[in-house]
Amino acid sequence: MLTVNDSGQLVSPNGQTPQAPPLNPALSSLLKELSESEGGLLDRRMFFDPEIYKVELERVFARSWSFLCHESQLAKAGDFFSTYIGADPVVVTRQRDGSISAVLNSCRHRGMKVCRADWGNAKAFTCTYHGWSYSTDGSLVSVPREEYAYYNEIDKSKLGLLRVPQVQSYKGLVFGCFDPEAPSLVDFLGDMTYYLDILLDRVDGGTEVISGVHKWKMRGNWKLAAEQFSGDNYHTISSHISVLLSEFPPEAADAFVNIDGLEINPAEGHGIGVMYSPTGAPFSAGSSEAILRWRDETRQESINRLGKERVEGMSWTHANVFPNFSYLHDSSVLRVWMPKSPTEMEAWSWCIVDKKAPQEVKNAWRTQAIRHFSPGGTWEQDDGENWSYCSGAGGQEGVVTRLSKLHVEMGVGHERSHPTLPGKVSHTYSEQNQRSLYRRWAEFMAAESWKDISVPVRTTEVIDRSDMAKAGES
Ligand code: FES
Ligand SMILES: [Fe+2]
Repeated sequence: MLTVNDSGQLVSPNGQTPQAPPLNPALSSLLKELSESEGGLLDRRMFFDPEIYKVELERVFARSWSFLCHESQLAKAGDFFSTYIGADPVVVTRQRDGSISAVLNSCRHRGMKVCRADWGNAKAFTCTYHGWSYSTDGSLVSVPREEYAYYNEIDKSKLGLLRVPQVQSYKGLVFGCFDPEAPSLVDFLGDMTYYLDILLDRVDGGTEVISGVHKWKMRGNWKLAAEQFSGDNYHTISSHISVLLSEFPPEAADAFVNIDGLEINPAEGHGIGVMYSPTGAPFSAGSSEAILRWRDETRQESINRLGKERVEGMSWTHANVFPNFSYLHDSSVLRVWMPKSPTEMEAWSWCIVDKKAPQEVKNAWRTQAIRHFSPGGTWEQDDGENWSYCSGAGGQEGVVTRLSKLHVEMGVGHERSHPTLPGKVSHTYSEQNQRSLYRRWAEFMAAESWKDISVPVRTTEVIDRSDMAKAGES
């Protein structure tokens, strides 16, 4: 387990890789079954069992890289954003030297949240309970009435806020990881960066997010949402049929049903799905005139940066970066599925836009994201209702209901490599990405430490851009 050292900071004990507490035998055998099979049958306990949830927080979220925020939310020194890694509250802050750091948002005195704002700018975080005050890098700088209350004997240097040991960015997206032994963010992402670039690296200047984050609670285990974004195009033709018929012209609705697409698994755990037409025009239904015009104006620039296949051949992207960071490219939405209990999650949603796009285009993206994928969005409500009914007593927990396993076998054995794209690919109606996500989950759950967790083999290069944030910032 991670521990707090004499200097009051998170470390691996004795400099060794952090160890997780042992698993109970029933959970061990469930994980063994999952990791040894193709992952095609799922034990329903994964979606409601409190013991599994507890281990998940320790073994998945406390070890994995988690999305924290976009760099544009931290434009100036002192800008901060409050979020979570798993169940742990963290606050991410731009430091005076330009670096980004993250600390646990929990006072070392009695555990009060030292930052209660969702975001803002601060010179220090002062706890409202007894007034201990921390600098934005987490150092404890002042304790009220120190001479009378503590006889000047308190060692403030050991009572700073715990720091998230690893904070790194990939082209504007800031991630944090509690495990000092975890590989770098870029290594963790593997070839997922090849596909993330379609969203992040399309035009000079990169991206920014529109101010404000939608947050809402839903019944449902977080994995239900993550797996859907990683590879579930199949649900579109039933769950979203009313949106397709009411909002899209008939030929576009028809194209969705008879979709020509790919599910791509660039590295174990990460998944992306696209409409795929490398020689044709990208699928553009549902986008406003302003957005389509912007795409046309910047098409050649994007092709110069990414090549024709990624710019013109791939559209209507849905994706998930393991464990719980999702995005939809054409809808300009970034997502985190925050675990809140075994059967509850909180969705956090950002709208991401090309930084150099005109205001009119940014407004169009914002409106589109709200219309489609916000708490009141036409597509969003269909999904939330499904996850809610898949959870709780209605979906999994009944004493007899739980005896049968869930079926995730669509397209087993039909995964293949692709002549031009990195990763394994399947037809759009496939559950290859879901199986990969659950195998990765089982790998993290069963592993004693990062020594037992595989690091993706990269086959593509990371293209560094001087006009964007560098990967590997700590
Ligand atoms: S809980 Fe923060 S100062 Fe007491
Ligand atoms: Fe959906």
